[in-house]
Amino acid sequence: MRIAVCPGSFDPITLGHLDIIRRAAKLFDQVIVLVSINAAKNSCSFTREERLHLIEKAIVGMENVRVDSTDGLLADYLRDAHACAIVKGLRAVSDFEYEFQMSLANKRLNPDAETIFFTAAAENMYLSSSIVKQIASFGGDISEFVPGCILEEIKERLCQKRPGE
Ligand code: PNS
Repeated sequence: MRIAVCPGSFDPITLGHLDIIRRAAKLFDQVIVLVSINAAKNSCSFTREERLHLIEKAIVGMENVRVDSTDGLLADYLRDAHACAIVKGLRAVSDFEYEFQMSLANKRLNPDAETIFFTAAAENMYLSSSIVKQIASFGGDISEFVPGCILEEIKERLCQKRPGE
């Protein structure tokens, strides 16, 4: 059984994330979408429960995909879950240095942890949770960026808050 982990903040999940998850699900027996803590980010707009809930809804129908969360190191989670790979999407060269560093650190912490990078789909190259949040906070249309089944929930939460308010 080959298990892969797709880790991230998912604050919130976007169509870019979902594309990577869907592609990973074709290559691995099981994929765990792992809501993890990014120590470099001060706070999240969505609670952990909200992020898990949104991902649950977004992956409906993907039989070999499930959601989990951790407060700990990704390298440790992989070991505990008997997962063999970390799957991440690369959007641009600017992602590379950070992801390369993370991949080496994870390998050092867990020598069995292989990181596999998927090239982001061309239409998702610029897409990020931060961009989605920023557009939504100004009342912009985010329907092309997030899964349709969670669009209203995301809008409701994000349209209430504008940066600096
Ligand atoms: O979506 P993000 O914020 O870019 O995801 C980054 C994340 C959460 C995957 C990364 O920060 C992470 O792996 N956090 C878990 C804690 C950990 O293992 N950190 C050290 C990695 S070297």
